[in-house]
Amino acid sequence: MKVPPSIRWQEGRLWLLDQRRLPAEVVYVERKNAAEVADAIARMQVRGAPAIGVAAAYGMALAGRAGHDPEAAAATLVAARPTASNLAWAVNRVLAAADPVREAEAIHREDVAMCRAIGAHGVGLLRDGMGVLTHCNAGALAVSALGTATAPMYLAHEAGAHLRVFVDETRPVLQGARLTAWELSEAGLDVTLICDGMAAHLMAEGAVDLVITGADRVTANGDVVNKIGTRGLAIAAGYHGVPFYAAFPSSTFDPATAVGADVEIEERNPDEVTDPIPAAPGVRVRNPAFDVTPAELVTGWITDRGLFSKPAELGVLAPG
Ligand code: MRU
Repeated sequence: MKVPPSIRWQEGRLWLLDQRRLPAEVVYVERKNAAEVADAIARMQVRGAPAIGVAAAYGMALAGRAGHDPEAAAATLVAARPTASNLAWAVNRVLAAADPVREAEAIHREDVAMCRAIGAHGVGLLRDGMGVLTHCNAGALAVSALGTATAPMYLAHEAGAHLRVFVDETRPVLQGARLTAWELSEAGLDVTLICDGMAAHLMAEGAVDLVITGADRVTANGDVVNKIGTRGLAIAAGYHGVPFYAAFPSSTFDPATAVGADVEIEERNPDEVTDPIPAAPGVRVRNPAFDVTPAELVTGWITDRGLFSKPAELGVLAPG
């Protein structure tokens, strides 16, 4: 991978790559306690479902080492962002562990291994010359290694396949334009950046053979909660007969939540939408950060435990 890691844990100190400043500036910020980690998650200095889980795990490790109340640290971290399941999953794992530092390090290590497994299960979907469309950043910057949605692409590229990757810019925070386009092109893939509203047109042109996105939470019935715009993309893919896949690690599967409609969708500050173009005075602005793609629009779920074509098969991802 050519881009720097999103999280560095060095000699017991936590450094986060400030993703709000990418790709113009590559700057690491040190976070010294759970409250600072929670603040970095809320402000999206670190973002992407698996990465916020890893960062929060280290937030718990910092709290444990400082002798702070672990329950209070956990509550602060979990409240930072409500939608991705990885955050509470990682915090609860560290909370239950005898050694918080070792557990956080284990979560970080497992994240790397899960990305490679996702790539191995998804790479067979890709052929030389295919057009692949992705949304938001479910790449190396959102995880610890090859990313999730991007893992099959990186492995296909490594194996010599030439893919044409279309990247939705992903308004309003522009994770596609600023992060995905950057990391894929740094790795030598053939990248084309498009506005979100152009995806359906490219499908109608026949330029897109496959869509792969990440996921922030996948519910028991297979609904995929992911970055705002994913639902529209899946509807467009279904209309045009383009297969739609979601790629994610087991930690994103939430068997305790029945359907996507039960998941809290984070509503972020409207300023993200009106920056840099302000709305006319008196215009209301909404900023839901995620949406729900119904399972019936998903062709397959690419996970670290296998590639599944039916929601009932996702049960193997459930813990224990
Ligand atoms: O708001 P973000 O940038 O944290 O949202 C990220 C996404 O929606 C990703 O697609 C998802 O977390 C998968 S990351 C491997």
